[in-house]
Amino acid sequence: MQTVQVNLGENSYPILLGEHILSQLGVNLKRLVEEGIIGGKVLLVTNPTVNKLFGQPVIQGLQESGFTVTTVEIPDGEEYKTQETAALVYDVAFDAQLDRRSVVVAMGGGVVGDLAGFVAATYMRGVNLVQVPTTLLAQVDSSVGGKVAVNHPKGKNIIGAFYQPKLVFIDIATLQSLPQREIQTGLAEVIKYGVIWDQEFFQYLVDNTEAIKSLSTQQLLHLVQTSCAIKARVVEMDEKEANLRAILNFGHTFGHALEALTNYKVYRHGEAVAIGMVSASRVAVAMGLMKPSARDAIEGLLKTFGLPTSFRDLQVEDIMEKMLYDKKAQAGRVNFIIPEAIGQVRITSEVPPEIIRQVLKEQCLRNGIKGQSPAISCK
Ligand code: NAD
Ligand code: GLY
Repeated sequence: MQTVQVNLGENSYPILLGEHILSQLGVNLKRLVEEGIIGGKVLLVTNPTVNKLFGQPVIQGLQESGFTVTTVEIPDGEEYKTQETAALVYDVAFDAQLDRRSVVVAMGGGVVGDLAGFVAATYMRGVNLVQVPTTLLAQVDSSVGGKVAVNHPKGKNIIGAFYQPKLVFIDIATLQSLPQREIQTGLAEVIKYGVIWDQEFFQYLVDNTEAIKSLSTQQLLHLVQTSCAIKARVVEMDEKEANLRAILNFGHTFGHALEALTNYKVYRHGEAVAIGMVSASRVAVAMGLMKPSARDAIEGLLKTFGLPTSFRDLQVEDIMEKMLYDKKAQAGRVNFIIPEAIGQVRITSEVPPEIIRQVLKEQCLRNGIKGQSPAISCK
């Protein structure tokens, strides 16, 4: 097993990574009991898809290590990441007589992780949280760093907290059953880390595309470990997103607008982020901040992994409005994460709207995602 440590003072925790290690979760949690960090009751939050695949070894391992386990399945899908679903989980927590020392184990993708994390952060003013992410996106991003949330009809992740887990436990063997599209959406976040932080890692992704696509153990371990290490370093420097942590949102300002305008039904999160990273890269070149060759390398790598770089069936002005005005209303000003080179980005609100508009016009209608309805014109 490999370890990446997240150093946050008294909120520090390890990320443990390995292959075929799910049955060892119990033994590793027992150590936290012995250290007096957690108690012996576990509420395992998962969904039917994930429980069927991985519930048995996890539950058996926990029971063999002396834990009392109550399992609650939430329905599968982003539309269930709500306060209503959280309320159902609180009911089960109450019936299972969870106390402040008990542990919520979140086993699943980002939806389960965010919702179970939110429950852990709020039930009895906070119980222990352990993340067992089973999608690539959750392993490289959502399980690390402590952002937990549920959605509100007025916006995604609007009700949430920063709440760090006690442990992140990653078994890369779980990725073998993940649909290809879910692998791709996770890879978008992996590529993000290369662009915002680590030129060598970006080059590694370029040099190992075939092995990564075939989900080779060695490559998966390396890319999950490196992604977690980069995220850990950024979060350590700015846990509550006062400034630097915003670089993790590279591509997200554009991407969120695409997701919201399509009611979260057309693009997986990573696909929208991929398109957004292309927008930000093209803006960077148009502003004279980055060389065209870096932009081409970013677009080339996204395409190699089958990620979209353009969109269709959306009006440019609608995207502009969603991005600039909605966000402004929420946050006061819109910050963009603009790359300056591979491995280096800047945070700025000084991006001329005309440049964004022009870039979006160029991205519209080129080669959208297969299977969508015929494109309408971009205005
Ligand atoms: P998801 O949780 O919906 O999982 C995708 C699908 O894969 C689901 O149907 C799930 O049941 C299935 N699945 C999970 N593991 C599987 C496995 N090993 N084999 C087969 N199927 C499996 O989606 P996601 O992409 O993991 O997460 C998206 C969510 O993450 C969004 O709600 C987003 O807001 C959130 N997110 C949070 C953060 C954060 O920092 N907290 C960061 C990025 C994204
Ligand atoms: N996914 C962005 C963050 O954790 O800050």
